[in-house]
Amino acid sequence: MNIPFVDLKSQYLSIKEEVDGAIQNIISNTAFIGGPAVKEFETAFADYAGAKHAVGCANGTDAIEIALKSVGVMPGDEVIVPATTWISTAEAVTAIGGVPVFADMIPGLYTIDPQDVEKKITAKTKVILPVHLYGLPARMDEIMVIAKKHGLKVVEDCAQAHGATYKGQKVGTFGDAGTFSFYPGKNLGAYGDAGGMITNDDQVAEMMRMICDHGMQGKHNHVVEGRNSRLDGIQAAVLTVKLNHIEKWTAARIANAKYYNEQLKDSGLVIPTTPEESRHVFHLYVVQVANRDEVMQNLSDKGVGVGIHYPTPLPFLKAYERFGHAKTDFPAATAQMNKIVSLPMFPELTEAQIDFVTEELMGVAVV
Ligand SMILES: Cc1ncc(COP(=O)(O)O)c(C=O)c1O
Repeated sequence: MNIPFVDLKSQYLSIKEEVDGAIQNIISNTAFIGGPAVKEFETAFADYAGAKHAVGCANGTDAIEIALKSVGVMPGDEVIVPATTWISTAEAVTAIGGVPVFADMIPGLYTIDPQDVEKKITAKTKVILPVHLYGLPARMDEIMVIAKKHGLKVVEDCAQAHGATYKGQKVGTFGDAGTFSFYPGKNLGAYGDAGGMITNDDQVAEMMRMICDHGMQGKHNHVVEGRNSRLDGIQAAVLTVKLNHIEKWTAARIANAKYYNEQLKDSGLVIPTTPEESRHVFHLYVVQVANRDEVMQNLSDKGVGVGIHYPTPLPFLKAYERFGHAKTDFPAATAQMNKIVSLPMFPELTEAQIDFVTEELMGVAVV
């Protein structure tokens, strides 16, 4: 059975008329950069995300970088990031001259460990940057208590967690800013690169807007040095169409994860858990197996798309060898790095497809 890792085609076909019409409209109006479609999406997304302001930008990596700058990160400032995440989270810190300081994860949840965060705080720490990894919110109440105690800012990387909630509150609204990626494969994905930021702070929002558009406050009035990181009209129009469907798609992801869990509950494998206080939006469905190479080979041979998110915790990448970290610095991240495997996860996945994946998985997996 051929089961892709994600299936963007079937989602497109389900909204083809709406999307094609929205794109054609932008072309007819030649509103390619900024304009009414971007405003419309920003307003709708702010409402969806439960924030006062949403600011579109070029991608989710820029979103983190611009948000950090907008909350006042300066060269030399330390930003605490998870050891286990996509590299953008740390790259964004370095891009503005900051120093990423890595903290370990909570075993089984994969999100940043608040206790390790507190241990990593120094006189130079400016921001805590949790990631709601795989769609599961980080423990925001503990993180906010630590941030308040030490006078730190919080920027949440919500690239994988559109619509996730922690204790009933949407991610991205706990700290000073939240950042999103709208990369095509994300839970809310554009048809190209796109990103966005949210905040409840008027001044932070103003700074975000300026930085995205060459530091301008009105034409030719460059108040600060910014850059070009604008959301384009076509992507905004696609995102507005897709935003109308996201709750239905998220519910389907959650139902698929529940069905996966039921099929795998007696397998003895480490499967995703959702703490009671969280709405996990399952951008990824990750399990742990002792014989990963064999499992991945078997699933690929049977036509099942699989992935690893992520094979190497950031501190152990060549890009960050300058920090001189050892595996023992991040025991939780180290313990899972050779075991994690991501199974197909997308809203249109069927129970028959999940049956096939889990049967093939259990036929080979070693606990
Ligand atoms: C956790 C995390 N942060 C940031 C990003 C960066 O997003 P983008 O690819 O849109 O730059 C991603 C996307 O892969 C991500 O997964």
